[in-house]
Amino acid sequence: MSAQAEIGVIGGSGFYSFLDDVTEITVETPYGEPSDSLFIGEVAGRRVAFLPRHGRKHHLPPHRINYRANLWALRSVGVRQVLGPCAVGGLRPEYGPGTLVVPDQLVDRTKSRVQTYYDGEALADGSVPNVLHVTFADPYCEAGRKAAIAAARGRGWEPVDGGTLVVIEGPRFSTRAESRRHAAQGWSVVGMTGHPEAVLARELALCYTSINLVTDLDAGAEAGEGVSHEEVLKVFAENVGRLREVLFDAVAALPAERSCACATALDGMDPGIALP
Ligand code: ADE
Repeated sequence: MSAQAEIGVIGGSGFYSFLDDVTEITVETPYGEPSDSLFIGEVAGRRVAFLPRHGRKHHLPPHRINYRANLWALRSVGVRQVLGPCAVGGLRPEYGPGTLVVPDQLVDRTKSRVQTYYDGEALADGSVPNVLHVTFADPYCEAGRKAAIAAARGRGWEPVDGGTLVVIEGPRFSTRAESRRHAAQGWSVVGMTGHPEAVLARELALCYTSINLVTDLDAGAEAGEGVSHEEVLKVFAENVGRLREVLFDAVAALPAERSCACATALDGMDPGIALP
């Protein structure tokens, strides 16, 4: 492997590059191709691998992203902490476009996605079946959340600390009734890619922090026509500069040594597969 990294950043819609001086490497995984090459560079003395979640030309819709290959590829170059910025819709009127949310909870409303590495398939040598159940009560890394929140504050962008991200299957946006229901549940923001990214990270004992940029008020939270992809991309483009700065500072603020529960998520269990 030519280039190594310790921190991964998975960029979402409208976020296709992160660092200027990078080494591009392609990584093969047992799960197929990641969304794109990894672009490896340095931020504040930390080695960072950037991966555009939808591919650099946005050719992959949320339900076609190979999440397993993406997380595996990151881990295989040495990544242990992942920051996952993504565009979301606000489910409360006060979470308008430009709001930054660092959620602490997740609800999965996807339908078709492979969401585990541990699906009990027979291994090549016929030995241990890879069945394993990770703890996921707290889906996000608390150390990573703290780093992201401090980074945003440091840039004068007061984030919402905590809240629930509900992930829908997409690629369509929600109906007004679906959106109102999500809001009535007390959930904060809605997106299409936060699952299964977070759980796959946990299954590889990676730290994962979801960083949500609100690009629109979701259908139930606004009186207008409903959400459009153009609107999402426009607001993301308006905010991507300061989001990049927050990510730089969050990378610098991530602990060099991990003492969180994510790091030991697989302790005492037999993954049945050789993790990279
Ligand atoms: N991504 C950005 N805005 C969204 C919304 N309103 N619903 C789902 N995903 C989104």
